[in-house]
Amino acid sequence: MQGPASRAWWRSAVIYQIYPRSFADGNGDGVGDLEGIVGRLEYLAWLGIEAVWISPFYPSPMKDFGYDVADFCDVDPIFGDLGTFDRLVEEAHRLGIRVLVDLVPNHSSDQHPWFIESCSSRDNPKRDWYIWRDSPPDRPPNNWIGAFLGRPAWTWHAATGQWYLHLFLPEQPDLNWANPQVEEAMHDVVRFWLDRGADGFRIDVAHAIGKDPALPDSPPELVLDPRASVHDDPATHPLLRRLRAMVQTYPQNPVLVGEVHLVDTVKIGEYYGNDDELHLAFNFPALYADWTAEAWKKQLADADAVFGPVDAWPTWVLSNHDEPRHRTRYGSEERARAAAVLLLTLRGTPFIYAGEELGLEDAVIPPERKVDPGNRDGCRAPIPWDPSADHGWGPDPWLPFPPEPETRNMESLKEDPESILHLYRRLLKLRRETPALNLGSFKVLESPEGTLLYQRELGGDRIFVLVNFSDAEVSFGDGRASGVQILVSTYGAGSGGEGNIDLVPASGAVVFRSAAQPGKPA
Ligand code: GLC
Repeated sequence: MQGPASRAWWRSAVIYQIYPRSFADGNGDGVGDLEGIVGRLEYLAWLGIEAVWISPFYPSPMKDFGYDVADFCDVDPIFGDLGTFDRLVEEAHRLGIRVLVDLVPNHSSDQHPWFIESCSSRDNPKRDWYIWRDSPPDRPPNNWIGAFLGRPAWTWHAATGQWYLHLFLPEQPDLNWANPQVEEAMHDVVRFWLDRGADGFRIDVAHAIGKDPALPDSPPELVLDPRASVHDDPATHPLLRRLRAMVQTYPQNPVLVGEVHLVDTVKIGEYYGNDDELHLAFNFPALYADWTAEAWKKQLADADAVFGPVDAWPTWVLSNHDEPRHRTRYGSEERARAAAVLLLTLRGTPFIYAGEELGLEDAVIPPERKVDPGNRDGCRAPIPWDPSADHGWGPDPWLPFPPEPETRNMESLKEDPESILHLYRRLLKLRRETPALNLGSFKVLESPEGTLLYQRELGGDRIFVLVNFSDAEVSFGDGRASGVQILVSTYGAGSGGEGNIDLVPASGAVVFRSAAQPGKPA
């Protein structure tokens, strides 16, 4: 692991998201846990992962499967205990893997002692830790709609005759960050995990923690759009600046990665501040982009326009625990392979969602097994680890497996050097060993229709990446790419060797080194 001297270790790292319920089961109860993660760290090191972000494992009534937190400084017994967390960090660090904790600052569970106190009376000292408003019992204070249920983001509390705000479920009341005591309490939470060795945080709903105290109505057309910028308020920025200043005092150079759930790259860029807010923010517009060369050229141009001039570092993410997996969205393994090449060779920090390296599709969930109020069970199916009948999960996994677990499991794919798993591993190795690919400059070049060609360059080393998004073979002849050194490709030999690139197979991609530039700047 690069030491503390490397302040921006997160620029060259690849971060792997673990959804703990679905990753690995250490005790056979059918629900993944921290012990399960410890048991798979060697696998992640073999794969070439340099940091993991673990979705919430806090004590929780699990209405939102852990994003409803009842204690920010402990571990739910279903996932283990603080001792297991400490061992996880120690073991991960021994293997050169950093550990990011999921910080959920926008809301708590309604079972959190703070909210229970807040509900007890209007003059309780914790009343103002949450967002309470007056309005008649039949009229919520504004028109906001809570995520998932399509109902008002307000719940009437009869005992004290006021409404409380919840941008998500009624069981997830929003904390009031305008109250300095809340900010201080959350800083204490952050210190708690940093003191235990955490290397940073993924920050849930990072853009929504500050609110306009007037809580104005949203424009009607935006009320039902959960990704709209309605909760993008200037009040959040000073809060993030103070959080950044605090974490910066820690020797491990913690990273703050924000879930800025907006669909506008310009808006997302604002959350980097003047290099004094988030270190990284998820660039979700790319996750929502279609799998076409045109759509991706636009994403790359947008990212370049926003992040380039201020030297902010972009992120790339194709899948997570909230969205259908990109293997499912894009529709084929060939495309998922080409997407792996793209994800791991762009300029910026890539995020891998556990299981995408196995080419997992979403599971098909029969109606009687649906458990998530947000309808996100498919992408949260348990990871099949081996071909055995229970795939490493005991008799009763909490959700059904993704398709073809008998063959599409970690052990079986590890035995097949042509598998998507080995493609991810080769790409990760190449990226680690090739400074041009992780820190180099980025430039899109002209290329045939349906393809994307770009150059990464550092210190005179020039690496080119060609991705064919189309479902047809594309000619890339004209001697433009002859005598090149093929580093990794999604087809054929996979890596190594000198050659020509004449035809790029349908939905294929190739990474190559060449002294001559194979295309004009686009
Ligand atoms: C974020 C999480 C999502 C969760 C929500 C509320 O969007 O990614 O899983 O349901 O916040 O905490």
